[in-house]
Amino acid sequence: MTDGQERAWADLAPRYVLEAPRDDAATSVRPGAAIDPGKVWGRRAPLIVEIGSGQGHAIVSAASSRPEVDFLAIEVFTAGLARTMMGAERAAVDNLRLVEANAPEVLQHLLPAASVDELWVFFPDPWHKNKHTKRRLLTPEFATIAAGAIRDGGMLRLATDWEQYARQMREVLDDAPEFARAFEGEWADRFDGRVLTAFERKGARAGRDIRDLAYLRKERG
Ligand SMILES: C[S@@+](CC[C@H](N)C(=O)[O-])C[C@H]1O[C@@H](n2cnc3c(N)ncnc32)[C@H](O)[C@@H]1O
Repeated sequence: MTDGQERAWADLAPRYVLEAPRDDAATSVRPGAAIDPGKVWGRRAPLIVEIGSGQGHAIVSAASSRPEVDFLAIEVFTAGLARTMMGAERAAVDNLRLVEANAPEVLQHLLPAASVDELWVFFPDPWHKNKHTKRRLLTPEFATIAAGAIRDGGMLRLATDWEQYARQMREVLDDAPEFARAFEGEWADRFDGRVLTAFERKGARAGRDIRDLAYLRKERG
């Protein structure tokens, strides 16, 4: 982190960062560490969670324009979290919290089951080299974990500029018994709650199509 980011972290973390009880790894979450969202945000409100929030452009803008909703940003990139807090403070946002942790563990262990109204995954690392694709976030295992965290009737929204990853996401989620497509045709319309981030701009500038997907969490049996 830069000096400014270090200072922002020290000043703003007490207001914005949720401390996760750790397992062995620094970004892990210890099983059994579930939070009570009512206590964390001081109210009962719909909860939107973004995985891989980067510098926080999408989530700070959403939190600022929807004060009636609670937001949680999950990220492992410390400087990105510092920038997100700086943005949140500038926008005088109070309904946003951040957690520095591995997203699947947050969904499994930090958030109560069925507590999330919407889960956003915008421009996850594409790992486009053949030998790296197995590192991608969107796998059948991830779909099961996401389905555990999202409430019945909740939404999973995704976007990527990597065509082959977009197809993988769609294949995985079409096959996941807990989810149903919330779009017609090949791809979802651009989600209008999603602002342009640096990653999207980079992808579009390189001539790549941006693909959106949206899936409804079906009723639990
Ligand atoms: C390509 S960037 C996109 C950032 C942002 N969504 C945007 O559109 O600008 C992907 C982000 O996901 C984060 N990330 C990757 N794996 C993660 C994980 N397992 N848990 C939490 N964040 C993760 C990375 O640190 C990175 O900031």
